[in-house]
Amino acid sequence: MSEPLADSALDQLFRAARTYNFYLDRPVLEDQLRAIWDLMKYGPTSANSLPARIVWCVSDAAKQKLAALAMPANAEKILKAPVTAIIAMDHEFYEHLPELFPHTDARSWFVGNAALAQTTAFRNASLQGAYFIMAARALGLDTGPMSGFDNAGVDAAFFADTPNVKSNFIATLGYGDPASIFERSPRPDFGRFNRIA
Ligand SMILES: Cc1cc2nc3c(=O)[nH]c(=O)nc-3n(C[C@H](O)[C@H](O)[C@H](O)COP(=O)(O)O)c2cc1C
Repeated sequence: MSEPLADSALDQLFRAARTYNFYLDRPVLEDQLRAIWDLMKYGPTSANSLPARIVWCVSDAAKQKLAALAMPANAEKILKAPVTAIIAMDHEFYEHLPELFPHTDARSWFVGNAALAQTTAFRNASLQGAYFIMAARALGLDTGPMSGFDNAGVDAAFFADTPNVKSNFIATLGYGDPASIFERSPRPDFGRFNRIA
């Protein structure tokens, strides 16, 4: 059994955490990228499918290739960020299920059913994208998720050798510069978008 986290941890993960446009001039090391994966991989996915595939754009060449395929405002964010992660999804994730979910023949649920495989990949890779954001925050880093880019172009530029892998969204990563963001947008109280049935 676990205890609730301290208020300071809840602030870091949720209440004080923000989406950043630009970052402080402070490097992010490869060990930190590996540490994000080593936390986010524990977030649940259906049948432990783990469909997310991530390309961490660290080099100038990778950032420029990605920025050229993004909306202009997003391109500047990519070029200036220490790292931008492409959160992609493997539509043939089920080929790994004999290893990742060995209790049963889960592969057979998806073989020959591309629609189910793609829906499952999108749902679970999006969840993994959220786990990525929360893992980064837990490790003291900030992110800037973005969907304003040419998905087909990114797929051609980064996943040409694996046509079953498609981009979902991208996220900059670093130590957020508070000067680069507006005030927090509204977050309504429970009664607005919830009901207890
Ligand atoms: C999936 C996703 C896509 C987004 N796409 C963009 C984008 O293309 N460009 C951008 O500037 N911000 C983008 N955002 C940032 C959101 O506007 C931002 O996370 C939201 O307003 C909450 O901001 P806050 O975390 O600072 O409260 C995106 C966020 C998410 C989660």
